[in-house]
Amino acid sequence: MSIAYFNGAYLPLEEVRISPLDRGFLFGDSVYEVIPSYAGEFFLLAEHLERLQRSLAAVRIRNPHDAGAWSALLAELLARNADPATPDLGVYLQVTRGVAPRDHAFPANAQPTILAMVSPIRPLPDRIRTEGVAAISAEDRRWGHCDIKATTLLANVLTRQSATEQGAAEAILLRDGQLTEGAASNVLLVLDGQLVTPPLEPSVLPGVTRSRVLDLARELGYAVAERPVSENELARAEEIWLTSSTREILPVTRLDERAVGGGRPGPVWQAVHTAYQNAKPGAPASEPMQSGGAA
Ligand code: PDD
Repeated sequence: MSIAYFNGAYLPLEEVRISPLDRGFLFGDSVYEVIPSYAGEFFLLAEHLERLQRSLAAVRIRNPHDAGAWSALLAELLARNADPATPDLGVYLQVTRGVAPRDHAFPANAQPTILAMVSPIRPLPDRIRTEGVAAISAEDRRWGHCDIKATTLLANVLTRQSATEQGAAEAILLRDGQLTEGAASNVLLVLDGQLVTPPLEPSVLPGVTRSRVLDLARELGYAVAERPVSENELARAEEIWLTSSTREILPVTRLDERAVGGGRPGPVWQAVHTAYQNAKPGAPASEPMQSGGAA
């Protein structure tokens, strides 16, 4: 049974009880992180904790812990959920403004509510390695502060649902004809041989995976540009990737029913995906895909 952390205690997830007056529940007045771990070790934990701090500061919730205390608390959560059947776990961590009588304005003194729980991260299925995934494009109808990792995700939920109903893995969002990101991922493209992604603006979450992937691509010698991307450029991309902590780097091979590039995961994805696999804690010395071309 999965163990959660809730306001200072470790207990079975099913036993966590959250007040109906919690502002996370009533208003979505809360922020969150999803932090991957591999073979019992966190990947890019410091970066996630820095973003948590930025999100909390942006919505004016007091950070209940410093980075050292968060690390200890989350390491204990991983240890309590250790299971050889699921060595790789994503930790979902949410901090709300706390419990108070319902009123839109902040309560004078509420204690932040903290919930952390785990779910397995599965290796990329072979079918996706060879065939990639489908995505749809959709209008970005979210609010103006998508750089804050807030739990107020109704627009993301509705857009992802529409992708799911169309047999797609993700919705790629466009605002005023410009690419922003995915419903729950960042979007990177290979365009004229260069790796391109929109710059960090309030319409884009500063993805931890995005940042790591850009660094890995630079280390591999690829040209990288963070610049605005038009709908037209999205449509003619040679490769499209989605990045997130739980889905890593997903190659998109169909966009709105049209093939992307050759309709298979491309060579730049192969190289960067391999580098990412090798960068993860507990990675084997080398990955079998390293020498292979696009399957
Ligand atoms: N979402 N953009 C959005 C809107 C996201 O929700 C996410 C991740 C990302 C990628 O960020 P990162 O690489 O730091 O995970 C970008 C998480 C995984 C989620 O909501 O489950």
